Order: sequence, then C-alpha cells, then structure tokens
Amino acid sequence: MSKKILLLGGAGYIGSHTAVELLNAGYEVVVVDNYSNSCEESLHRVEKITGKKLAGIYEANVCDKEALEKVFSEHKIDACIQFAGLKAVGESVQKPIEYYRNNIDSTLTLIETMKKFNVNNIIFSSSATVYGEENKVPYTEEMHRGRCTNPYGWTKFMLEQILQDAAFANKDLAVVLLRYFNPIGAHESGLIGEDPQGIPNNLMPYISQVAVGKREKLTIFGNDYPTPDGTCRRDYIHVVDLAKGHVKACDYIFGMKGVEIFNLGTGTPYSVTEIVTTFERVNNLKLNYVYGPRRAGDLAESYANSDKALKVLGWKTEKTLEDMCRDSWNWQKKNPNGYRK
Ligand code: NAD
Ligand code: WQD
Repeated sequence: MSKKILLLGGAGYIGSHTAVELLNAGYEVVVVDNYSNSCEESLHRVEKITGKKLAGIYEANVCDKEALEKVFSEHKIDACIQFAGLKAVGESVQKPIEYYRNNIDSTLTLIETMKKFNVNNIIFSSSATVYGEENKVPYTEEMHRGRCTNPYGWTKFMLEQILQDAAFANKDLAVVLLRYFNPIGAHESGLIGEDPQGIPNNLMPYISQVAVGKREKLTIFGNDYPTPDGTCRRDYIHVVDLAKGHVKACDYIFGMKGVEIFNLGTGTPYSVTEIVTTFERVNNLKLNYVYGPRRAGDLAESYANSDKALKVLGWKTEKTLEDMCRDSWNWQKKNPNGYRK
C-alpha cells in the first residue's frame, strides 16, 4: 500500500511542487494550508499536472490543534512535511512576534499532534540561513548553526533545535532537516510557480516582474563585494530539483531514527549579474537594471557542499541555471498576476 504524506503549507511555492513529485512517485498526499500566502488554485493545478487527486485538502491553521486532530483522525498519516511558515526576511524584522508565533507555534502543535496519533516521521523546511554569518562557504551539515541576522532566520535556528531535542527525548522519532539554498524556477508546464504578494523580496520574482512590465527596474544590491564580479553569489536551485529532494527524503525517513540534516543546493554559486545576464540571454529579452547600495544583512556568498545528499539520499540536481531562468519566465509570462485571474 502506498504511504500517505501530510504537507503542512502544501499550497505554497515549494509545497505545491513537492506535491507534484510525490504524486508522480506514487505517494498519497494530504494538504493543510491556511492560504495566508497562497491559494487553493495551486492545488487544483497540481492535480491537473499529475492527473491524480490529492487524498485531502484542508483549509486550516497549523497552530489550530483541533483542526489538525481532525486531519489526523481522518487519515492514517505516515510522514509529515512541515512547510508552513512565514518567510519574508524584512517583514520578520518589523513583525518578530508574528513570525515567532506562527512559525514556532505551528511546528510545536504539529509535533504534539503527531505524538498523539503515533506518527513518528517529520521532514522540516529549514534554510541555509542557519549557517549564519560566521561559517565559511561551502557550508557542510556538521558546521555549528551560526548567528542569524533576522527573526525569520532565528525561527529556523530554534526549530532545528526543538526538533533535535524532541528526537533526543523520543527515540521513535525520525527527523529530517532540509536546508534549502535559493529555490527559483517553476514547473516546466508553467501551471505552478512562485506567486509573491506585493513587492517581491527575492531576486528571481523581482526580475520576472520587471520583465513582464509590473516593476520599472531591478536594483542590484551592491557591486563592491569580494566576489569575482563584485555582486553577491548564491546557490540557486531549481524548485523541481528541490521537490525531488523531498521525495528522496520521504523514501529515506522510513528506514531511520533520530535526526539527519541535508543541504539541498547545487554546490555551484552564481552572482546576481550572472543571473540577470542568463535570464536575458535564454529568454531573449532586455532587463532594465541599475547597481545600487548593499542591502542590510546580505552575505557576500552562500553556497552548499551537497555531497551528503548525494551519498546518503542518492539525490543530485539535474537542472541548469538556463532551465531555472527559462522556467521562471515561462510561469510569469503565462500567469502575469500569479494565480489571480
Ligand atoms: P510559501 O509562503 O509559498 O509557502 C508556505 C505556505 O505555508 C503558504 O502556502 C502559507 O499559506 C502556508 N502557511 C503559513 N503559515 C501557516 C499556518 N500557520 N497554517 C497553515 N498554513 C500556513 O513559501 P515557500 O517558499 O514554499 O517556503 C516553504 C517553506 O520553506 C517555508 O517554511 C520557508 O521558510 C522555507 N524556506 C523557503 C525558502 C525560499 O527561498 N522559498 C528558502 C529556505 C526555506
Ligand atoms: C538573492 C541575491 C540580493 C533582490 C533569502 C533568505 C534566505 C532564503 C532564501 C528562506 C542577493 C540580490 C535581491 C533585488 C538584488 N529564504 N538581490 N536585488 O537573500 O540570498 O536569501 O531567500 O529561508 O533565508 O534570506 O535571497 O532572492 O532575496 O537575494 O540584487 O531586488 O539577489 O542582494 O545577493 P537571499 P534573495
């Protein structure tokens, strides 16, 4: 019988792409989301892409214990993937308590509910941000978590610790912490993709909105960094590769106990200028951009050593930077207003 995976925050950018890959791999998928940063339409499109039905769709806040208990009593869940969380770095500085409440409370409520229903497998969406300021690139999983520069980052830092403590106390628990680097791109169908509300914080959605004419110009934040071309370098990863990493983590979690941490990145950094010029070249268009001052909190470089995921999970990225730029634009072009008509 196929295993059933519960995706908390599964209607969002990474969750919806993961739902596609899990369904394609033969897993059953149940989604809980309060649509605070997404909408149900993404889930209908997941079903359209795969030609398969989700086993359940629930509109609920993961902090709502009763609502979660209803889901667990209606489905025999084998593993949970906790995507649900607020993720805008700048906003987290303005609204720290909202971020701590939502991100930490939702995960605590989930762990408690899992315990009550004897569900012992959890995969958590962590972030490269936990390497903080003091570690040197490329980051490896055994490095100590570093000092974060914003409340969003601290929620990931704290939740990793909370999950490690929970696994130490409960020897039946299996925890996989996935540290994502910079996910970009979209499903090649152009049916699902990243749909930020308001002004995008992240580079690729901003570039796409400049290309489609919704924003006037891109400002590249700083060109005086100690990098080859002076702009920051990041480990951009295609969201479909990232989603497939979750399938590998699901395959793996049923045979382990305790905590395993994996970087999900390509291991190859690209600069902001390289992203801009590649986007222009593969999509045959010109972007309006200027160089501006540095953005507070940005590191010069962040990229993974991704050897562990290859060795232990048998996962490696397959898509190129060209694929990432082409698929981001394909999604934006076909859905200039995201999921809204
Ligand atoms: P997203 O905002 O598209 O998805 C998160 C989903 O969680 C949304 O659908 C939102 O409506 C839902 N949600 C938030 N709080 C909820 C709650 N209390 N109850 C129910 N649903 C709730 O973001 P994403 O890019 O898909 O990110 C998924 C996870 O990965 C997040 O935890 C994020 O912090 C983490 N992450 C993202 C990135 C990135 O760059 N996108 C990088 C590292 C880690
Ligand atoms: C990428 C590069 C910017 C916008 C963030 C979070 C991190 C993780 C991924 C969740 C940087 C430059 C950007 C613009 C620019 N998320 N840039 N002009 O900051 O690497 O990571 O998202 O966990 O925790 O911090 O991603 O996409 O914001 O920026 O020049 O308008 O693009 O300076 O070098 P970042 P990003």
